[in-house]
Amino acid sequence: KRREGKKLYWQIMETARAYFESQLWGEAGAAARHYLTEREIDEETAKNFGLGYAPQGWQNLLDHLQSKGISGKIAERAGLALSRNKGSGHYDRFRHRVVFPVVDIWDHTLAFGGRTIAANDDAPKYINSPETKFYTKGEQLYGLHAAKQGIQKAGYALLVEGNFDVICLHAKGFDTAVAPMGTALTSEQARLLQRYCDQVVIAFDGDSAGEEATVRCLQAFSEAKLEALVIRFDELEDPDTFVRRHGAEALSQKIEQAQPLVAWALDRVLAPAEGDNVDRKLSALEEAGDVLRHVGNQLAWEHYAQEVSRRLNIAPKLLKDYIRRPDQLRSRARQAVIEAHRPLELDSAEY
Ligand code: GTP
Ligand code: MN
Ligand code: MN
Ligand code: MN
Ligand code: MN
Repeated sequence: KRREGKKLYWQIMETARAYFESQLWGEAGAAARHYLTEREIDEETAKNFGLGYAPQGWQNLLDHLQSKGISGKIAERAGLALSRNKGSGHYDRFRHRVVFPVVDIWDHTLAFGGRTIAANDDAPKYINSPETKFYTKGEQLYGLHAAKQGIQKAGYALLVEGNFDVICLHAKGFDTAVAPMGTALTSEQARLLQRYCDQVVIAFDGDSAGEEATVRCLQAFSEAKLEALVIRFDELEDPDTFVRRHGAEALSQKIEQAQPLVAWALDRVLAPAEGDNVDRKLSALEEAGDVLRHVGNQLAWEHYAQEVSRRLNIAPKLLKDYIRRPDQLRSRARQAVIEAHRPLELDSAEY
């Protein structure tokens, strides 16, 4: 029964996808095609990603689906339509937007994202399909179907934040780019990548949201045993604007010089604690602990713990015990930092 439901769901989504595509490449799609051209997305890439256009109006897709025997109720259940507040009936979720199908690794269409193309818009920039019985955001990676061969060949994946980053990078020859679904990376998504490669280069937006999202990848990648590297951009840049402004060669160089995620995350918490401020050292110690706990490899762990202990001027032994048992040793470690600049050589047998 569920299997049949799933097949029907795929069919409905496929019907919607074909409709959106026909709109993009038809008369109604002129503004949307212009939008894509402005963003330097060529026709071949657009077609490879199945990009489409949801026209202006309240029930274009609904009418089309109706003509194929798909009711408003069913369209609503598939996340394509919403029910009207007043009276009965439904209206299209996606209107006057470039839409991109979210497909699984077998190219089944599971959902859609839509970006507004209106310049002066009060409407949200992005609208996405809701999760449904057959679509869970945290289990899919945007672009993986298009990228999986490139990833296998290159041996690594390029993880970006936005759908347009994925599409733009593919257009510029970076066919390893994928993105989470507008949410934090999940362990499932990391494991999905691990089927295709052992290394990931995180290339999130240059803003502080991108920085924090990068830190939050630590757990998923360490759990999936994927080697994670990081590249960062200027505050106002993302991979899309970077590659268009500075060129593919500049991005390739950045990728070659990518830094290990753990080293980057540690430097990020240790750098502000470089001076003599004890409070800053204490919070750096806590945060460094949060990073180090995600390092599974013993050698790497030793290496990074040494670095933390050197930069915070805290005895290696105490630091290591603290990271393994933070609750028992928090006050002890705090004391050590407070007394610090003179490393304490404490014997672990003491506690
Ligand atoms: P543009 O380049 O302006 O198209 O956007 P972007 O790809 O740089 O997206 P941004 O950095 O603003 O956000 C990254 C991702 O977060 C997007 O691809 C979306 O998945 C999601 N996102 C951004 N804005 C919105 C929004 O207004 N609503 C929702 N639901 N998701 C959003
Ligand atoms: Mn592997
Ligand atoms: Mn962003
Ligand atoms: Mn962005
Ligand atoms: Mn962008």
